[in-house]
Amino acid sequence: MPNQVPNTSAVIGSGTMGPGIALMMARSGSAVYLMDIDEKALQRAREGVQMASNVLKSSGELTEASAHQALGRIHFTTSLSEAVKSADFISEAVPEKLELKQKVFSEMEALVSSDTILSSNTSGIPISKLQEGRSRPERIVGMHWSNPPHIIPVIEIIRGDHTADQTVETTRNYALAMNQVPVVEHEIPGFVENRILYAIMREALHLAETGVASMEDIDATIRWGIGMKLAVIGPLALLDVAGLDIYHSVASYLNQELCSDTGISRLVEEKVTQKNLGFKTGKGLFDYAPGEIPELMRARVATLLKLRQELMKADV
Ligand SMILES: NC(=O)c1ccc[n+]([C@@H]2O[C@H](COP(=O)([O-])OP(=O)(O)OC[C@H]3O[C@@H](n4cnc5c(N)ncnc54)[C@H](O)[C@@H]3O)[C@@H](O)[C@H]2O)c1
Repeated sequence: MPNQVPNTSAVIGSGTMGPGIALMMARSGSAVYLMDIDEKALQRAREGVQMASNVLKSSGELTEASAHQALGRIHFTTSLSEAVKSADFISEAVPEKLELKQKVFSEMEALVSSDTILSSNTSGIPISKLQEGRSRPERIVGMHWSNPPHIIPVIEIIRGDHTADQTVETTRNYALAMNQVPVVEHEIPGFVENRILYAIMREALHLAETGVASMEDIDATIRWGIGMKLAVIGPLALLDVAGLDIYHSVASYLNQELCSDTGISRLVEEKVTQKNLGFKTGKGLFDYAPGEIPELMRARVATLLKLRQELMKADV
């Protein structure tokens, strides 16, 4: 693969994740086929890639000309065969259902050339399950983008039982060529990012339920305290800064106080029963004024973009 960028890529499934992934691939110089079985989803994806490119233009990461070029490299299709037949690299982003993904992998295998890499954006299905029954499981790999894929740099690359080192390396190099931050993992439920996020969410929900602080103050503690630090230094590197002896003495009494519930938070159970699901229903753990949700989304994207630019510039 010259310059580590495949000549042709395909993204299968153009829902929430597909358009941003397709834009990042096209931006790196690859021709991209964005495929969906649903013509309406594909229509929304045309707007999706345009919106994602507008976001990158607003942050100065794409110019008018480079955005135009990237968008020109994306082809939309409802034909799996057209999408994958000349692809060197595929990102599968269909809904998180094992049988559906297995069917798509089986169909793709029959259409692609022998050295095409087949990656899955699954959030949690073991890659080894997608390798079962495939004739060339060594070229199947997890490539888990974080949402929104054109804004959040990390990409978890997950080895299944049969993934070849070369497959991992090619996937990693492609992520680097897209200016993303690849991390390589063995498969484990939730992968690394969600395991840590869910540990934080469990403790935050537990503290909210006990009433020790308001939900606003719990979130503020994380955003303006550990969250800010963690954007610059990971928790393991932070341990060296704090001193392992300090961690040892605090952890000796604090670890046993932390929430270790294996069930779901009572607070979340209540809200789900009431059908207060968050942004999608206009009310969740927090209440939102009319018109507030789109404005919050816009402001958060703008802040994330600025933060990403600063973090990418920093070399710490
Ligand atoms: N949404 C997120 O925040 C997020 C983050 C990381 C990973 N993921 C993972 O990415 C994958 C896709 O998630 P999403 O949120 O984009 O899903 P989505 O439901 O928004 O979109 C999936 C798209 O796949 C299409 N589709 C269904 N069957 C298909 C088929 N056989 N061939 C081609 N297209 C088909 C659907 O029409 C739909 O447009 C899932 O595995 C999910 O777990 C999602």
